[in-house]
Formats: sequence, C-alpha cells, structure tokens
Amino acid sequence: MNVLTSLSPGSQGVQQIDRLWMIAVPILGLIFLIVTGLIVYSLMKYRWREGEADPEQVAGQRTVEIVWTAVPLGIVTLLFLLTVRTMGIADPGPVPEPDLVVIGHQWWWEVRYPKDGVVTANEVHLPTGKAFSVRLDSADVLHEFWVAQLARKMTTVPGHPNNIWLEADTAGSYPGSCSEFCGTEHAWMRFTVVAEPPAEFAAWEQGQLQAATAPVTADAQAGEQIFMQMSCVSCHAINGTQAQARVGPDLTHLAGRGQICGGVLDNTPDNLRRWLRNPQEVKPGVEMPNFEFTDQQVNELTAYLETLR
Ligand code: CUA
Repeated sequence: MNVLTSLSPGSQGVQQIDRLWMIAVPILGLIFLIVTGLIVYSLMKYRWREGEADPEQVAGQRTVEIVWTAVPLGIVTLLFLLTVRTMGIADPGPVPEPDLVVIGHQWWWEVRYPKDGVVTANEVHLPTGKAFSVRLDSADVLHEFWVAQLARKMTTVPGHPNNIWLEADTAGSYPGSCSEFCGTEHAWMRFTVVAEPPAEFAAWEQGQLQAATAPVTADAQAGEQIFMQMSCVSCHAINGTQAQARVGPDLTHLAGRGQICGGVLDNTPDNLRRWLRNPQEVKPGVEMPNFEFTDQQVNELTAYLETLR
C-alpha cells in the first residue's frame, strides 16, 4: 500500500499506538455525543419562553459534583496509564550509538548509516524484523520525520537530536513524509522506507559502499566532465570522484533510487532530463539553480547520472 496512513501498522510500536487509538476514540466519541447531546437537549427543552418567570436558582448538589469530578478523573487516569504503557513499548528510549542518522534539509532527507559509512538520500533501507535506532537532526529549520506505518512522528530540531525506533515486520515499501511545515516545498519532502529481508539488506548495504565506477560511453564521459566542471561539485558528493560536497543529496548511487527531488518525480531518464533542464520548474524554490544547460549537455549529464547505480 502506498498511502501514508497510521491505520495499517507495519511494526510492533505502531500496532501499540493503533491499539491505544482504538480504545481512546470510542471513549472520546461517547463523551462528545453525551456533551453535545445534553447541550442540544437543554437548549431546546429549557429555552426561555414568553411570559415565563426566572427558573429556580440551584446552588450545587453534592452527589452530582462528586460524580462529574470522579468520572472524568477516572477516564483521564485510564487513558494516561494506557498512554504511558504505549510510550514504553513504542518508544523505548535512545541508545548511545544509533544505527541510522537522518538529517532534514530544505527539502530532502540525508540518510546516514554511521556504523558502516553508507550515505544516501530520501530512501531508507531497513532489514525486516530488526529495530533500528534512529537519530534525527536538522541542517536548517524544524522538520518532522514520519513513516506512519512504522514509527511515531518526531520533529527534527537543528542542534538538538531526537531519537526514534524504526522497525518493519514485513518486507515492502513504506511512504514517509515531512509533517511539519518547513517552507515552500514542505509538501515535497517525501521519502521511502524500503524494508527487505536481512540478506537483501546486507547486499544493498555492500552495494552502497562501492565507489562510483568511471563511465565508459562517450556521452556519460562528457556528462561526468560537465558535472565536475560546473558547480555541481560544490553541492553534491559522488564517492570515487572529486565531488565531495555535502550541501545537496549524495549522488553516488542516485540511479538506484526509486524517486528524485524528494518524491516529485519517478527516477527515469526522461524525468532526470526534465529536472536538469530547469529544477525550478519541477520544484519551485529548490536550492538547485537553473544552469541553462543545452539539450546536448542535459543528455550527457543524464547519461552520466544513469551510470551511478
Ligand atoms: Cu521539512 Cu516540512
């Protein structure tokens, strides 16, 4: 399923949150119905009518006071205890060395695996059945990391790391998004969590650690030259080349990702060309400027980027 929903839990943690919600909603719904029902009933039954005297003034009834203090207190206590229990399971507290560091940028996600040095963007890979401790940080403003089916929401605060646990019970693709307004392209700060069996995950990890291989076709070689000569290298990194900047997404394995531009476009050669021709048309406000490449340059750059598997 490719919808951002917390109603089909894909991890133990979200299952607990879902359970709490299934308990809380009927209770809260019932309170809502009772309160609004009594208000509407009273408005109709006791409204003032022509010629009617003032109603009898009552100044408190001990039994009623006790009941309407005790019942809400009981409900709030119950929900509080259930919430604390859920928090304990869904959010077991950070460990000193996270498995994953995710950094929010306007408007993309930097994804780092500090234990082996993998760096990627907008796509988080996870082995199924293993809880990953995730440290969340931000490079600029407040963002919020949310994979509805797999974990609770968490704000990313510049200079103040937060932690969550990310786990998937079954293999699959889980959509994620930034869920705190962070500027023009907030809506296009999406990402995907790809959960795969441990062996596949290990293979992916090995692949990510490989440096980029030198391009062989003439087009791709020309594209690499353009990349290294233009200011692409001031923002992007491609392992195995001189491009080592960390301002924009790491492109070492760009061609292996499902989407580009924080989810705006599927990762196809045509879409890459469209993006290179004018990033501002695809994602207005994005940091990447329009380089006004010629059609030939766009084709060569695309040929090069397509080699980055
Ligand atoms: Cu980042 Cu909204």
